[in-house]
Amino acid sequence: MAGQNPYITKVQAMPARIPFQVIFEIEETGELKTLAADPEKIPYGRTGEPGSILDLAEAAGIEIDHACGGVCACATCHVYVTKGLESCPPATDDEEDMLDTARAVKTESRLSCQCVPNGTCDVRVVVPAWNKNFAKEGH
Ligand code: FES
Repeated sequence: MAGQNPYITKVQAMPARIPFQVIFEIEETGELKTLAADPEKIPYGRTGEPGSILDLAEAAGIEIDHACGGVCACATCHVYVTKGLESCPPATDDEEDMLDTARAVKTESRLSCQCVPNGTCDVRVVVPAWNKNFAKEGH
């Protein structure tokens, strides 16, 4: 599912203009996966903000739950941005409101569908072990 949420403020993000790396740490398995993000291929898909961490994760073949389809309406795409957060615009009030409903929120918490790195530095993202869509469990 893709689209825009008409009830939220649009994310003001500067798209990446230079290649950068995103290192995903899958907490559940301990796996590390690195994506060489290519600005010419962004957006990779149609889920979340173009160039968002969710968009980049899908390009890397990493599953991050996104029950609302990436429109800032569920908080299931909650991740921790442990490096490179300074290259992402601050969370909007709408993202903050949705994060208030997420579990285990930390200072580096972001909604991956709303957080768009600008490519000025590499980014490291932890996908929490509990990031599971209950509807998908059992697959
Ligand atoms: S996918 Fe629902 S808030 Fe990000």
